[in-house]
Amino acid sequence: TIIHVILTGGVGSRLWPLSRKSRPKQYLEIFEGKSLFELTVDRNREIADQVIVVGNVDNCHLSRHILEKNNIPYLDIVESTPRNTAAAIAFAAFAADPEAILIVTPMDHIIEKKDLYDQAVADAIAKAANDHIVTFGIVPTKPETGYGYIESKGENVLSFREKPNLETAKTFIAKKNFLWNSGMFCFKAGVFLDELKHFKPKVYKKSKIAWENNTDGKLDLALSLDIPSISIDYAVMERSKKIKVVPSQFLWSDLGSFESVYDYLVSKGHAVDENGNMTIGTQNYTAFIGMKNTILIATDNANLVLQKEHSQDVKDLYNELERIK
Ligand code: GDD
Ligand code: MG
Repeated sequence: TIIHVILTGGVGSRLWPLSRKSRPKQYLEIFEGKSLFELTVDRNREIADQVIVVGNVDNCHLSRHILEKNNIPYLDIVESTPRNTAAAIAFAAFAADPEAILIVTPMDHIIEKKDLYDQAVADAIAKAANDHIVTFGIVPTKPETGYGYIESKGENVLSFREKPNLETAKTFIAKKNFLWNSGMFCFKAGVFLDELKHFKPKVYKKSKIAWENNTDGKLDLALSLDIPSISIDYAVMERSKKIKVVPSQFLWSDLGSFESVYDYLVSKGHAVDENGNMTIGTQNYTAFIGMKNTILIATDNANLVLQKEHSQDVKDLYNELERIK
């Protein structure tokens, strides 16, 4: 069995004010009438026999709506509180047969060249069947600090480094054999759980307890709060010896921050002035004077003026707004 596991726990805080708590970015129907969530479901439809969605109480109805509209049967795992990706993936793995192959994807990526994607996933499934933990490597274009890096030799992984600082990221880029981790993974449920148990026994144990006490797929809050919050990248990918990489040729954009949205829009021919300034969400004539690489993001009730290089800081603003609300 091949199961597509969709992680949809994030609120997309780095895309505020486009992305709101009530309507996270993955459900905005802004790609020819489809949302990123729907595109993710479509992309894996032919590949997987089953879908498991791991989401949260605030967004599970939005996921359900799309899956039901598309007539796709799914298992819904609803977190009471986010405990990061190691736990989220563990819940899906506990719900699956240990021999089932999971294709774990986020839902905030734009992927083009579907034939190359299909090829990469087929390659990954074959490796996962041999008990490997498979990552998808993307050729890096800049020393991005928001991604994981895979030091590779062909399909073999020499090391995995999650979110290095800028200086380190620059040395990785210079070395040429480092790929970005796409954030998608493929492995047998049982293989992942064994590695998690080995490297992070507490995450394994507490996730197991929370999963075993679920009510119709919904996890208990108190039991969830007991689970250490750590991403799969730090918990397993940086440590496991079972990792392989599929160097991937499909076009990949992570629309996680306005900087990546900006790059994506530029590649699609979206207007940008001679100083690199751009507007998003308004057709109004907008002039930028004395500014460079500035993005104006306009919505009905909130605007953001952002220096592109500060895109990662939007998260802090979002958290601050949540706090004072
Ligand atoms: N269900 C659930 N619960 N989903 C979660 C949780 C959670 O607690 N936390 C995060 N997610 C989801 C996010 O919504 C997203 O779809 C995915 O898991 C990855 O989380 P991010 O928070 O977006 O991770 P990241 O972007 O910082 O880093 C990851 O992705 C990069 C590429 O986009 C890492 O895997 C990096 O190594 C990678 O380069
Ligand atoms: Mg992300």
